[in-house]
Amino acid sequence: MKILFAAAEVSPFSKAGGLSDVVGSLPKALEKDAEIAIFTPLHGCIDREKWGIKELENSDMWITFGSSPQKFKLHMTKLPNTNINVFFVQNDWYFSCFQEVYPRWLDPRYEHERYIAFSLATLEYAKQLNFRADIIHSNDWHTAMIPLYIKANYKFDEFWSKTKNVFEIHNLAYQGVWFEDILDFANMRKDIVFNEWGCEHYGRVNWMKGAINYSDKVVAVSPNYAREILTGEYGEGMDYTLRGHTDKLVGIVNGIDYDVFNPKTDKTLVKNYDVKSIDKKEANKKRILEEFGLKYNPERPLIALISRLVDQKGLDLIRQVEGDLQHLDADFIFLGSGDKSYENLFIWLSNNTPNIRAYVGYRGDLANLIYAGSDFFLMPSKFEPCGLSQLIAMRFGSLPIVRATGGLEDTVTGYPLDNSNGFKFWGYDGWAMKDAILTAMNVYRDKYTLNAMRKSAMEADFSWKESAKKYLEMYKSLV
Ligand code: GLC
Repeated sequence: MKILFAAAEVSPFSKAGGLSDVVGSLPKALEKDAEIAIFTPLHGCIDREKWGIKELENSDMWITFGSSPQKFKLHMTKLPNTNINVFFVQNDWYFSCFQEVYPRWLDPRYEHERYIAFSLATLEYAKQLNFRADIIHSNDWHTAMIPLYIKANYKFDEFWSKTKNVFEIHNLAYQGVWFEDILDFANMRKDIVFNEWGCEHYGRVNWMKGAINYSDKVVAVSPNYAREILTGEYGEGMDYTLRGHTDKLVGIVNGIDYDVFNPKTDKTLVKNYDVKSIDKKEANKKRILEEFGLKYNPERPLIALISRLVDQKGLDLIRQVEGDLQHLDADFIFLGSGDKSYENLFIWLSNNTPNIRAYVGYRGDLANLIYAGSDFFLMPSKFEPCGLSQLIAMRFGSLPIVRATGGLEDTVTGYPLDNSNGFKFWGYDGWAMKDAILTAMNVYRDKYTLNAMRKSAMEADFSWKESAKKYLEMYKSLV
């Protein structure tokens, strides 16, 4: 079976969010059962030398959009520690010129042009390489045009005649919406695709809707999110469309790469540990507190938060109760970047409270040390399709304190249930979050329960093993 993955970001080459982790690790778990090719844009920030990315010979290709031809090239390397080919679509005007995966302040029409160009170039290159995929697995709105191309433009193309489309929703909040003239640019026929059964949504083009309508399977990144998006509360205006497709909608929980996230081998830690030597975690706590200028005190728990700073992550709950948090008998370390208002909040808290410190920006090594050094990991998300940070935290023995939504509900077993590995609250409310923090702080004093919970968290299996099986079954049901 041949599977083509297409995504805007792929770890470890380019990374802005959880999407890249998934596309960089799920294929690895499928490698022995399928022949896989991954396609992604060659963003300017990708380090070609570091990853051994080479331009393929004679890969120049001209593709016409609107009325102007654009020149593309194709680069390639292997996904680290695998034999999987990763293809990088290069175009100077759309991708190589940017240092960020999702540059801010782009003209929205141009954003659409970029990913239309990438999607079409992916299909043209796959054809040139004679990679006749049984399954094309596209992800989020950036590659949502692919199922439309396959079923509309290439409908009578023998090469793609057996190809099935799987579309994965990592986040329904970004659907890719623009005016209908973008279809002319994309060389798509309005009379075929611009309607209720295609990509038309309230008079606009909506790429995600198109993908949902045209794909053979739609995957949400957790079973609970698959249910939630059928409701008005979480459906982002797409619930009606999704309710019409429940027969092809499935929820499969994400895994994480257990080789990449491993407290036993992680070189950024001060001391490595595993479930049998959890006490060595403490050395990492000392180190990280020191790094942030806080005093180590074994009686005080350390609560961490590592996140993109966007509304989805529930950071306004922290704003609601910051006055209370600074008087708790606990320390807080926050790491992340994103919306200016949250960055400013974090900097303010860091400068004006005795127990909250923040690093605004992203540093992978620091993040891992925080996972390893923290006792609890806060994730108060407003909505969370799956969430990977809570899985990483558990792997490092840091117990998640989460709002029970989306994948957080599926992956965390809340105290005081049997084998609990974290803490849950339900209401979207700062005081509900504070109560959960207080419960966690109580458990911190009870070393017996704390250690039992750490053990449950570290022993829970969130590797790709089980989920990859579910993907494979789903692919097989299609071919
Ligand atoms: C998005 C979602 C997150 C999910 C990730 C990978 O970043 O916000 O919940 O875990 O995609 O699927």
